[in-house]
Amino acid sequence: MENVTIFDHPLIHHKMAILRDKNTSSKQFRELVGEIATLMAYEALRDLPLKDVEIETPISKCTARMISGKKLAIVPILRAGLGMVDGLLTLVPSARVGHIGLYRDHDTLEPHEYYCKLPEDVDKREVILLDPMCATGGSAVAAMDFIKKRGCKNIKFMCIIAAPVGLERVQKDHPDVKVYCACVDEKLNEIGYIVPGLGDAGDRIFGTK
Ligand code: PRP
Ligand code: URA
Repeated sequence: MENVTIFDHPLIHHKMAILRDKNTSSKQFRELVGEIATLMAYEALRDLPLKDVEIETPISKCTARMISGKKLAIVPILRAGLGMVDGLLTLVPSARVGHIGLYRDHDTLEPHEYYCKLPEDVDKREVILLDPMCATGGSAVAAMDFIKKRGCKNIKFMCIIAAPVGLERVQKDHPDVKVYCACVDEKLNEIGYIVPGLGDAGDRIFGTK
């Protein structure tokens, strides 16, 4: 699939196995979501532009490279996307953070918006949209719609587990968005959960069930 990166790294496979396990505690689940997000970000941020800077080491002057002015906005989809935020801020502490609140109606599986607060200059930033789960793809597509309405042209989407149908929907509706996904699972079940998946990511992060 064009514009989709699926990860195949031993550290991610190992952490995914523990993340999926129903006996993993909320504390460990939260830590793993953050760690997997950091590992994925290493790849997703590979194309950040660099600029030359002159510095002085204890030995001599030299030219080194630093990330240039391009600004990032990290935008988690509430609630579960919050679990990935610190994993990215660890690598880019100066990034701004916006929030989009969406919940899936349990019967229709349609996303409903309840909150949207993005950085004022979000149209001048590259947006990294975060949600650990992409099931029907409805929430991700709705979030991308909001972000584009605010004038953003450069969006990446990071999710930990996707269903094939969700990935296809994101690609069809937003073919310009680069998607980074730790794992693509088999299917959705009859109530819209990813199989085998990991259950309800928000509930497992926040211990609400
Ligand atoms: C979950 C998940 C995604 C969405 C994915 O959120 O975090 O946002 O479902 O499903 P979709 O691809 O079919 O839209 P949920 O609506 O359960 O809200 P929560 O994070 O507040 O629990
Ligand atoms: N949201 C989740 O948290 N898990 C799923 O399997 C599907 C949607």
